[in-house]
Amino acid sequence: MNCLPQIEAKRDGRALSGEEILNIVCAYTRGEIPDYQMAALLMAIVCRGMDAAETRALTVAMRDSGERLSFPADPRPLVDKHSTGGVGDKVSLPLAPLLACLGFRVPMISGRGLGVTGGTLDKLESIPGFTTALPTKRIIEQVQKIGCAMCGQTDEIAPADKAIYALRDVTGTMPSIPLLTSSILSKKLAERLDCLLLDVKFGAAAFMKIEEQALELAETIVRLGNECGVKTRALLTDMNTPLGRSAGNWLEVREAVECLSGRGPADLEELVIECAAHLLVLSGTAGIENARREALGMLRSGEPLERWDQMLAAQGADLKRYREKLKQDATAGAVALAVADRRGFVNRCDARLIGEVVRELGGGRLQKGSVINPAVGIDGIAKPGDHIEQGMPIGRVHAKDQREADQAAACVRAAFEISDASPKLTPLVRKMIE
Ligand code: URA
Repeated sequence: MNCLPQIEAKRDGRALSGEEILNIVCAYTRGEIPDYQMAALLMAIVCRGMDAAETRALTVAMRDSGERLSFPADPRPLVDKHSTGGVGDKVSLPLAPLLACLGFRVPMISGRGLGVTGGTLDKLESIPGFTTALPTKRIIEQVQKIGCAMCGQTDEIAPADKAIYALRDVTGTMPSIPLLTSSILSKKLAERLDCLLLDVKFGAAAFMKIEEQALELAETIVRLGNECGVKTRALLTDMNTPLGRSAGNWLEVREAVECLSGRGPADLEELVIECAAHLLVLSGTAGIENARREALGMLRSGEPLERWDQMLAAQGADLKRYREKLKQDATAGAVALAVADRRGFVNRCDARLIGEVVRELGGGRLQKGSVINPAVGIDGIAKPGDHIEQGMPIGRVHAKDQREADQAAACVRAAFEISDASPKLTPLVRKMIE
């Protein structure tokens, strides 16, 4: 198919019809539109935007490019959470088993790292033996049995998104409200969810740098999700600082397990509880405070940690090797400390710089198809408000060798701003959109 007329229409600011959008999505998924034309159309959409009707048509066409999950009737609501991506964002890992213990079914379809942001699938694949490639039938069976499954997009679910997403990643066409909305919602609508919670990030390491842009994205997704029959809410959360104290695939799995054991960093636990509480409210629990108490009580009960282990076993993890790995302090070749060069308070830790260091160490992709080193990253990351003495560690780099570890430690130091006065801390969750 030749889509030059549609590229020109979009370039000139004219809206595409639903039929044109459907034809393009179907033809691109079948391989009938060359990448160069699709890339040109995507760039025209980035520059010109799409109105509500176009965004809806694109989302529905992408959803219908594959099959939709079909679960047996069950009183447990089907729910999911999706983040627009950040550094140190491992919320999904403790959240899925927590939600399963709270009486939900969670078919969590996640993505890989993009740019400097980490990906849930890359994190999970650092667990020995764990597979994220589950066929549709197995996703359904596992969710019915254990309450949760965490897996990648299959070829059957929203294949149009899979193809377009890969093209966007390498053509600078990620930050666009209609493209982000259609990508996220097409997969989620294919899961036939009852409720969906979006964690829309803004700040240094987010696709949306500015809070107002993130708000517009959140409002667009929430409106369309609800119009399409899924009770949808969004949280607007700060991604100027890495979430938790670890960034890097295996290090984040370890921190997620600490969270499930009640020993996780406060901001990670806060966001996990907040996500669970909003899903409880969306599905009928009266009052957010009640919901927060219920979610925290369940997290502290230890049940979600057992459910996590059951999920790992169901998805092929070698639990013996995984537990041995958890006991090891470091699994990469070398470590180096980044230390504070003065006394004071951490004022700022730039999430983007931290994400870049992790990616350079091999924890993320610089090119499509790059192989990830799951062991590298940074832990012990100091947080805004921490009081530190000169020479105290503010981050510990895990790298493949000592030279890389030492170089990265210097870059980690540069991500911090240390001041005499204690900074005014801003809330992690800035807004809720429903
Ligand atoms: N997550 C998605 O699923 N799609 C995007 O485009 C970005 C983040």
